[in-house]
Amino acid sequence: MQNKLIIKKKLKTFNKTITVSGDKSISIRWVLLSSLANGVSKAKNLLMSEDVIAALNAIKKLGIKVKINNNLCTIYGKGFEGYNYKKKIKIDAQNSGTLGRLILGLLINTKYPIKLIGDKSLSKRDFRRVSSPLSEFGATFKLNKNKNLPLVINGTNNLKPIFYHEKLGSAQCKSAIIFGAMRTEGKTIIKANKSRNHTELLCKYLKLPIIIKNKKNYDEIVVNKVTKINPFNYKIPSDISSSSFFIVLAALSKNSKLIIKNVNINPSRTGVIKILKKMGVNIYFKNHKIYKGEKKADIYVKSAKKINSINCPTKLNSSAIDEFLLIFLIAARAKGISYFKDLSELDKKESPRLQIGSEILKKMGVKTVTTKNSIRIFGNPNLRINKKIIIKNFSKDHRIFMTSVIAALSFGGEWHIHDKDSINTSFPSFLKIIDKFR
Ligand code: S3P
Repeated sequence: MQNKLIIKKKLKTFNKTITVSGDKSISIRWVLLSSLANGVSKAKNLLMSEDVIAALNAIKKLGIKVKINNNLCTIYGKGFEGYNYKKKIKIDAQNSGTLGRLILGLLINTKYPIKLIGDKSLSKRDFRRVSSPLSEFGATFKLNKNKNLPLVINGTNNLKPIFYHEKLGSAQCKSAIIFGAMRTEGKTIIKANKSRNHTELLCKYLKLPIIIKNKKNYDEIVVNKVTKINPFNYKIPSDISSSSFFIVLAALSKNSKLIIKNVNINPSRTGVIKILKKMGVNIYFKNHKIYKGEKKADIYVKSAKKINSINCPTKLNSSAIDEFLLIFLIAARAKGISYFKDLSELDKKESPRLQIGSEILKKMGVKTVTTKNSIRIFGNPNLRINKKIIIKNFSKDHRIFMTSVIAALSFGGEWHIHDKDSINTSFPSFLKIIDKFR
């Protein structure tokens, strides 16, 4: 099968209702927490992408039974001390920063050392951001080149609670520490910059001994040792990050309408909606529901008649962090210059997204001024592409691939987009849904 996608035509007008696959962040957290529960947990609509399958394989390595039957995943937890594994095991987090970082929190009291490995992209990413606070609990780490994978974690039974100030706005760091604190006698106190709060909502739903105080600019989280998690079932809602590809497609297409059903709209994830609305895109939610503490709704989007430029407030950065590549496409069509700043975290993802995003815009004929942590995009409401654009060598970053597809379908030109299989990381059905529009 050819691993390159060629797109030669823009999309025409459409009026569609779609459903996208399950939320990746919630899927991975459900897998990890169910692996510690006292008994059988079941999830419907678990995202079956490589990142989540890597999480299932990781808990299997730790001695936990998993069964998958159609759209139902069953995990047979054996309680908090139920991990049972051979000496010298290796856990492969593949491409998943979320799995790689969160699981370390659960392993700080392991009996034998465990090696954590990942693919080429994950092996370049910073793991000291979690190993450093986790070592304050008492676990020890040996990292490659001091901060990367492969690493070896050596747990201890002599854990001490910590005070941790999370300054990056990283939910992965915050969640790893919450997981570590759950295994530790005493009170761990976390002061965390705002970031997605799925871990906290799950802990609250499970009635774990965690107190959360939401302050204006940060959250204070106090975690006590957890001795038992009851098994729990979950119907995973659709992923807002996966939905965003189609939201932007609809916003950039002519006279089009789109409904996306049953999407998680946790406010710590909806930065993309807030930013797009500020830029003049017509989006609204209908049919609001709350499920186990998480908000969900159907999302309605219409083509944008006029797109305004934005000086994007940095307080929205964390809640839109996975969607900036798409937001840059909207800025490319805007009237005026858009400015996005304090985005150094964007270059620490599966690929350096700020740099690659700006290269793609340049290929599209859009002027940008990019620094280490900011980008100015000189929008053009009449932007049309008539040339050949090749997108390759992007560390197989799934979001670069999918954003390029949306750009091709929205702006025209002849696009040759390599590494099609990268979608399997987070959204294996992406191209099947795209086919419904073509
Ligand atoms: C995630 C947190 C974010 C996000 C990633 C998923 C999570 O990373 O970019 O795709 O599920 O906790 P950081 O926490 O590093 O910002």
